Amino acid sequence: MRRPFIAGNWKMNTHRAEAIALAEGVVKAAAGVDGVDLAVCPPSCYLDAVGKALAGSKVLLGAQNMYFEKDGAFTGELSAAMLRDLGCTYVILGHSERRHILGETDALINKKVHAALAAGLIPILCVGELLAEREAGQTMSVIRRQFDGSLAGLSADQLKTVVIAYEPVWAIGTGKVATPQQAEEVHLALRKLIAERYNAAVADVVRIQYGGSVKPSNAADLLKQADIDGALVGGASLKADQFLGIVAGAL
Ligand code: 13P
Repeated sequence: MRRPFIAGNWKMNTHRAEAIALAEGVVKAAAGVDGVDLAVCPPSCYLDAVGKALAGSKVLLGAQNMYFEKDGAFTGELSAAMLRDLGCTYVILGHSERRHILGETDALINKKVHAALAAGLIPILCVGELLAEREAGQTMSVIRRQFDGSLAGLSADQLKTVVIAYEPVWAIGTGKVATPQQAEEVHLALRKLIAERYNAAVADVVRIQYGGSVKPSNAADLLKQADIDGALVGGASLKADQFLGIVAGAL
C-alpha cells in the first residue's frame, strides 16, 4: 500500500517572517494528522529558518532545486550536500517552471536526480505536458520522453525511492485542474511505463503525485483515484488551512 504524500511547493513566495509563520501554521494543523507523509518546500534562502520551525514535527523539509556538481565554481547554485546540511529530505527536480522558463533539459535533470540520490535526498521528479502537446495528442509521448530522459540509469532500488509528480503544465497556477479521470489516465499510464521499464513490483511502490491547481475542494476526488498517491501543491500551500484542507482529502 502506498502511503499518501502531500507536499507544498511555495515557489518564489513568502518573506522570512511569513515563511516561518506558515511553517508553524502547517506544523500546528498537522499535529493530529496520521497516515500521510507531509513536506513543505520553501525558497532556498528560508530553508534554514523553516527547518527550525519544523523541528520535531512530522512535516519534512524539501528544496525546490539544486545543482548536480559536488562543489566548485558554480555561482548561485546549491549542492545536494548543502541541502542535506540544511535538513532537507526532499528536492523537487525538473519542475515545469524550471524546464520551460529556465530551460532545463532532461539530460541536466537526470544529472541532478543522480546527484540527489547519491547524497541521500529523495527527488520529487516532475513531468507534464503543455496544453498544445495535450491538444496534439502527444501527452504520453511527452511523459515517456521526460521519464526516460530524467530518470535514465536509475536502478530499480533507486527508482523505488523517487517520487514522481505529474503536473500538466496547463493546470499549473491556472485554476484549470485536470479532472480526476484525466489525471488518473496519465498516472495509470506512468505506472504501466514503470512496469515496462523495470517490473510490476517497482511500479507498485513508486508514489506518483498530481500537481496543478489542487485545492481543498478538488483534492479528495483526485486523491481517491487508484494511481494518485498524493499532491504537489503550489498556490494553496501558501495558506496553512488550505494546505491541511488538501491533506484531509487524502485521509
Ligand atoms: P498550483 O497548485 O499553484 O497550480 O501549482 C502547482 C505546482 O506547480 C506545484 O509544483
